[in-house]
Amino acid sequence: MSAASFASTGGPPAIPHLDVDPFAIGFFADPFPTHDVLRDAGPVVYLDKWNVYGVARYAEVHAVLNDPMTFCSSRGVGLSDFKKEKPWRPPSLILEADPPAHTRTRAVLSRVLSPTVMKQVRDRFAAAAEERVDLLLEKRSFDAIADLAEAYPLSIFPDALGLRPEGREHLIPYASLVFNAFGPPNQLRQEAIERSAPHQAYIAEQCQRENLAPGGFGACIHARVDEGEITATEAPLLVRSLLSAGLDTTVNGIGAAVYCLARFPDQWQRLRDDPTLARNAFEEAVRFESPVQTFFRTTTREVELGGAVIGEGEKVLMFLGAANRDPRRWDKPDTYDITRRTSGHVGFGSGIHMCVGQLVARLEGEVMLSALARRIAKIEITGEPKRRFNNTLRGLDSLPVTITPA
Ligand code: HEM
Repeated sequence: MSAASFASTGGPPAIPHLDVDPFAIGFFADPFPTHDVLRDAGPVVYLDKWNVYGVARYAEVHAVLNDPMTFCSSRGVGLSDFKKEKPWRPPSLILEADPPAHTRTRAVLSRVLSPTVMKQVRDRFAAAAEERVDLLLEKRSFDAIADLAEAYPLSIFPDALGLRPEGREHLIPYASLVFNAFGPPNQLRQEAIERSAPHQAYIAEQCQRENLAPGGFGACIHARVDEGEITATEAPLLVRSLLSAGLDTTVNGIGAAVYCLARFPDQWQRLRDDPTLARNAFEEAVRFESPVQTFFRTTTREVELGGAVIGEGEKVLMFLGAANRDPRRWDKPDTYDITRRTSGHVGFGSGIHMCVGQLVARLEGEVMLSALARRIAKIEITGEPKRRFNNTLRGLDSLPVTITPA
């Protein structure tokens, strides 16, 4: 692994320069040793490969997330700086916006995905989890990614949004494109964008009011137009945010939880003994695996961070996954512990941009893990897990397992 060097020219002094590429396949395969290097090198590092600053310690990641006026999102939360480069798609009205614009769109999505709305969908989500477990118990041996982590959210989320049945096969490829596009111009990003046209066409069409079933999250967003809260041109873009961020994230979140519970049988047993731990077991998987590994910010002014001075207009890469395992913040950070006090983890972000869909994710995770724990005695990994590579998302492509009924 690369060692830190202290450059005498180029970049501010006292900031360690590292030649780590956090968007390389080798890094994705096992990021943890490099996370250690990044955290230990200093509170702020400089990554020569992409000419960006990086923060991997919990304290600095948290500080950047909670100072949105200095570390802005409107210049893009990927490597590309929207002030200098044309974005690959019209920017998100929520993720890639700063206050006050962000405040208005955020209020709309917070209401569409509120605790009251979660109460309304809970029975449906729970029933679908039971049905999924029925199918898995019939199969006994299956791929926990395709047949569980993907199949379950696909069986509820598109319907909850009110999507048409046709074209849903574009949803995961579109999300994968969006998350690859936050990365640098590497092969993952370039190939994703080259193949994006059919997925983008589907999404644009599906976000229109007439294509969203009444009562779904999508229709609820459009209904805010009638109240004068957003315009008719903004509504489809806010629906797009749910299509971009609402599916592949939970696929990787549920995949992470099942992978943890299959790898750590003592934790599985604890969950079996007390299925009410399901919600925390999911939350701890989000901390432990951090399905969303990184996001960028751009500085709006010169700023001091962790003793380092960063100039205006610089990209800062936040390693959420490294912060979630920072030993300066967490006791036994590399242990998956379903009774841990997980609050404060940054797997859903922190501050004004903290995941607006976190209640949906937690609901899915909770009802799925609870159904598994009540009805399955044992989950065994029966084949080599394969990793899926993405510039932002961490997760598996396949996880062969065999289950024993309770
Ligand atoms: C385990 C699943 C999920 C994870 C790990 C996750 C992670 C995150 C993170 C880290 C952020 C912060 C982005 C930033 O600070 O720049 C975020 C924001 C966001 N998430 Fe999630 N998310 C998940 C599920 C969902 C779901 C289910 C939805 C929609 C139903 C969703 C919609 C959004 C949106 C729209 C934002 C932007 C919020 C804003 O900028 O104010 N996410 N998510």
